[in-house]
Amino acid sequence: MFEKVNSLGLFGLNAFHVDAEIEVSKGMPSFDIIGLGDTVVRESRERIRAALRSCGISFPVAKVTVNLAPADTKKTGSITDLAIAVAMLKIMGHIDADLSDSAFVGEVSLSGAIRGINGVLPMTIFARAEGIKKVFVPFENAFEASVADGIEIFGVRDLAALLSHFNGGEKITPQGKYEPPDDGVLESLDFADVKGQQNAKKALEIAAAGGHNVLMIGSPGSGKSMLAKRMPSILPKMTFEESIETTNIHSISGILDKRTPLVTVRPFRAPHHTISPAGLAGGGGVPHPGEISLAHNGLLFLDELPEFSRQALEILRQPLEEQKVTISRASGTVSYPCSFMLIAAMNPCPCGYFGHPSRKCTCGPKQVSSYLAKISGPLLDRFDLHVEVAPVEFESISSKQKEESSERIRERVQAAREIQTRRYKGTGITCNARITPDILHDVCPLEPDAVEMLKAVFDKMGLSARAYDRILKVSRTIADMSGKEVIRKQDVAQAVQYRSLDRKYWGG
Ligand SMILES: Nc1ncnc2c1ncn2[C@@H]1O[C@H](COP(=O)(O)OP(=O)(O)O)[C@@H](O)[C@H]1O
Ligand SMILES: [Mg+2]
Repeated sequence: MFEKVNSLGLFGLNAFHVDAEIEVSKGMPSFDIIGLGDTVVRESRERIRAALRSCGISFPVAKVTVNLAPADTKKTGSITDLAIAVAMLKIMGHIDADLSDSAFVGEVSLSGAIRGINGVLPMTIFARAEGIKKVFVPFENAFEASVADGIEIFGVRDLAALLSHFNGGEKITPQGKYEPPDDGVLESLDFADVKGQQNAKKALEIAAAGGHNVLMIGSPGSGKSMLAKRMPSILPKMTFEESIETTNIHSISGILDKRTPLVTVRPFRAPHHTISPAGLAGGGGVPHPGEISLAHNGLLFLDELPEFSRQALEILRQPLEEQKVTISRASGTVSYPCSFMLIAAMNPCPCGYFGHPSRKCTCGPKQVSSYLAKISGPLLDRFDLHVEVAPVEFESISSKQKEESSERIRERVQAAREIQTRRYKGTGITCNARITPDILHDVCPLEPDAVEMLKAVFDKMGLSARAYDRILKVSRTIADMSGKEVIRKQDVAQAVQYRSLDRKYWGG
């Protein structure tokens, strides 16, 4: 006797089809699972045996073989448990329905309950593309799966509910399609709390508008962390495609918020400086996404940048350039997207007061330079905007004057981002920071005196080609913020002004 039930598998973000094939024949009673499963898959024998018993179904006294096809693709974890259990129920005659248009994923527990798994969304989207009409998922993942359109989702609480569904008993109600809110409303700290600091606020606004990276340098207590933590409140809306991409990554990482299955607010990730390189970039036996991928389409904030390990910092360089990270392990190679904005903050020296207007720095010149040297030249080059955050002045801090709210700033950011969305329509480019070299000059037309200025700056500052490109992109954003298509001299000047701290501190 032979049966086959559809299931799914996942490697990194890539879902694939799995057939749970079962054969029952006469012979020595046994139960084997073959088809390149890991130990978790092999242990599913014990889970399924117990789960069936809990439904009052005794295991066949026969030679039972389950094959997870294709046999040459590794299967990991407990995703295929449910499909194996269903195949078993079918071959024993407890389910008689035609299941050819359905797929089953979920972990079976000893009690017969179906437990949640990671990655249900990318698997559901894949199943729909494969022509599957119904997907049976763990009850707790049904809401998440309902983000996918055009496929019926059934949330299964336990094997008993499934048996009743197929045998004329109580039916499982399909999960309604999830309708995301128009705009992710954000409960966030507000820029109105920050007194003064106009220069830093402007830099952060430009960064949010064009998706640029920012490095903030300043003494302790000057408000760097305070400023960075308010960034989520001014980031532009996510597009639906961006939401799906980010949700897929959060889905396989198991960090989706149970109440909001679709990520509609740009992620803000702020890992502690003790994080390992693998925690930052991704890793593990079956490589899982790191913080840079969890921040995909959002923001990564690295506070106290020089405190991060050298290895962790250097591992950022390539992903920052390519917006994806490739991880190779014995189990295979996976690639995760990581298009994030990087905001970093640091003190200028160990004591923190180097360059402070009134307090004396107690570090020797050697200490200062070795502290700054923790940020390598190539990493420094990847920051589009440098901001010196000076301690807020007494007049500002004691002033009763109201500061501009994040909502107002965000309106300007949004307007500038919409210009970019229109300009790059159909190119796959999402914002100015992601302009590719082939179109850089076409989309950054300059007025003649702006060209001259750029040339003078390039010669005088001895810029790298990368720094030049980045200044041009930031100028593009500044021009967009004033609704100008052709970049003016003043736009370039402002962009250059935000690129000057490497010389002041690093003397480069
Ligand atoms: N511009 C400012 N307006 C209002 N409060 C400020 C400002 N700058 C600093 N503070 C206060 O000082 C505290 C310390 O700032 P913080 O952001 O932690 O500094 P840093 O990260 O630069 O060391 C803040 O939590 C806030 O209470
Ligand atoms: Mg701080």
